[in-house]
Amino acid sequence: MYAERVLSGMRPTGSLHLGHYHGVLKNWVKLQDEYPCLFFVADWHALTTQYDDPRGIENSAIEMVIDWLAAGVDPEKASIFIQSMVPEHAELHLLLSMMTPLGWLERVPTYKDQQEKLSHKDLTTYGFLGYPLLMSADILIYRADKVPVGEDQIPHVEFTRELARRFNHMYGREPGFEDKAREAVKKLGSKKARSFEELRRAFQERGDGEAVARAQALIAEAPSLSHEDRERVLGYLEGTGKMILVEPGYLLTEASKMPGLDGQKMSKSYGNTITLREDEASVTQKVRRMPTDPARVRRSDAGDPERCPVWQLHEVYSDAGCRDWVQQGCRSAGIGCLDCKQPVIDAILKEQAPMRERARMYLEDRSLVRKIIAAGNERARVLAQETMHDVRAAMGLDYR
Ligand code: TRP
Ligand code: SF4
Repeated sequence: MYAERVLSGMRPTGSLHLGHYHGVLKNWVKLQDEYPCLFFVADWHALTTQYDDPRGIENSAIEMVIDWLAAGVDPEKASIFIQSMVPEHAELHLLLSMMTPLGWLERVPTYKDQQEKLSHKDLTTYGFLGYPLLMSADILIYRADKVPVGEDQIPHVEFTRELARRFNHMYGREPGFEDKAREAVKKLGSKKARSFEELRRAFQERGDGEAVARAQALIAEAPSLSHEDRERVLGYLEGTGKMILVEPGYLLTEASKMPGLDGQKMSKSYGNTITLREDEASVTQKVRRMPTDPARVRRSDAGDPERCPVWQLHEVYSDAGCRDWVQQGCRSAGIGCLDCKQPVIDAILKEQAPMRERARMYLEDRSLVRKIIAAGNERARVLAQETMHDVRAAMGLDYR
């Protein structure tokens, strides 16, 4: 019933590195040819943990968008925007907060985990607790049915699904709702079903509050109803409308296997990264300085690629022929480590060349970036406003 739509967000963390490229951005670039896509900078999400030092977020956001563009995200195909520039996200977050049980938020696994991991920060804040709910608002406001995320974010998408279900049960209708609700009413037994129908009519035609209460009591006393049917019948009783929020699905993004310069996963916090647009001399230096098999002290010592982080980069970048050359040459001391590193350096520089090229224009004239973002904000807002219109109406805020 809704168009397939992809949505994903990223916190503005400053310059992105090759791990982001291989883990996330390559996938976005592929998706933009398959679906309408919305990609946004989650700057409010950054504030949930960085509220004490918000300066820098804006700059990181712009730099990150330049990295997206450099990686090949195409503003003609995908809408690129900034969360805080589509304030409807905040309105939906607020409205959803009214019906979100506190326990659901406290049980999200990242809540306690992150508090422990970032123990130097006071994360006993309202905003931090509400983080998954803000993410739900991000997703639900676009009725996005495809959310590419890493494994760590799956609980958040699940949370969003449950929330959408709760919302629709409370304020809306699923497809075929009416029929399902009538079926459920029949399960009350013919006598109770008849009085239920009478009470329902009394309420819907005359706004008889007493009748609702009696019908609710009648349902409460019907142990044969499943939880779902109970919610249907309750919704039917009060005559709520259509399916308003779409339960999203996720597209699992494989965890990036991109190794860093030390053989651990590439990550800013390990200080082992190569940034997306890093200059050529620096890339060359960094790879040349990489540690190798510790057993290979002299050029004449044979080595073992399995114990060498350079080999892991060959696994990402080199073809079978080159990999054979490394295996042979390393184990027989036929090649030196700098020889071995050269094809990796060449491959990274080749991968980065079009990125550097695409970024150049934006670095020379940042107003181009601002324009792309402004256009993306506009497109996103149109969609967001449609949803908010329905949500407000569903929640009884339909002032005219
Ligand atoms: N929470 C995500 C992260 O930290 C970023 C994010 C915010 C997001 N809102 C989203 C991702 C909506 C997908 C959809 O990585
Ligand atoms: Fe590592 Fe290559 Fe040196 Fe072998 S030859 S230790 S694989 S850098």
